[in-house]
Amino acid sequence: MIISKLPQELTDFRPEIGLILGSGLGFFADDRIDVVGRLPYGDIDGFPVSTVEGHVGQFVYGTIEGKRVICMQGRFHFYEGYTMAQITLPIHTMHQMGVHTLIVTNAAGGINLDYVPGNFMLLSDHINALGTNPLIAWQGSEGDQFPDMSEVYDGELRAKIRDWAKANSVGLKEGIYLATTGPSYETPAEVQAFGILGADAVGMSTVPEAIVARKFGMRVIGISCITNAAAGISKTKLTHEEVTDTADRVRPQFADLLAAGVQLA
Ligand code: HPA
Repeated sequence: MIISKLPQELTDFRPEIGLILGSGLGFFADDRIDVVGRLPYGDIDGFPVSTVEGHVGQFVYGTIEGKRVICMQGRFHFYEGYTMAQITLPIHTMHQMGVHTLIVTNAAGGINLDYVPGNFMLLSDHINALGTNPLIAWQGSEGDQFPDMSEVYDGELRAKIRDWAKANSVGLKEGIYLATTGPSYETPAEVQAFGILGADAVGMSTVPEAIVARKFGMRVIGISCITNAAAGISKTKLTHEEVTDTADRVRPQFADLLAAGVQLA
């Protein structure tokens, strides 16, 4: 797939690490990066524009303690009606720029009974329950046609992040993320079923981007912010407000964890 011409300034910059900032994490780009430039998605041919409230749609690039990073401030979700190709186009773009490590963040509901809102979870693996795959009808000859998915989330880098979290008393869990399409939250029966399947947390993103990044041979790390107990585990009804309130509350810790991930990458 040929992606439209990127600004010379950005291709010259050659970012090494890509970050996808999930709900409530957009501020990271402004707070933690020495910003070199911004590129609104609308300025890139073929790019969709994010519609969810609180999601700004742009790339922000710059350095974090000398590491060259590019952040997606705002991402595309399947529930917004985007195609898998549109959702994962930014991963193509990052690959084209030379990004070799992708750190994907998200908000997720906790299924594992040990998880409490405000915990973070390093993805050890995922379950794709989206009912589709971003590599279907793939255009382009790069990478394997049937990419191996036996270690989507890099074990070595995960171990470093785990050690950092322990040393810094950050409540970091490690578990399996299951992706559903949303946008309705799950029923209690679905949450129970997902738990039996092995999922520790459930969310509506991340898996398409991680699959495409692996196809390109990138190193991938996934980090969830557990914003709520999944339906039926919590006695109360789920609201988007609860999700954003928790994400807001633990923002500084999430940002520290993410910055550490960048340094360790
Ligand atoms: N389910 C699905 N997606 C989510 C949840 C949830 O409970 N919380 C945050 N994103």
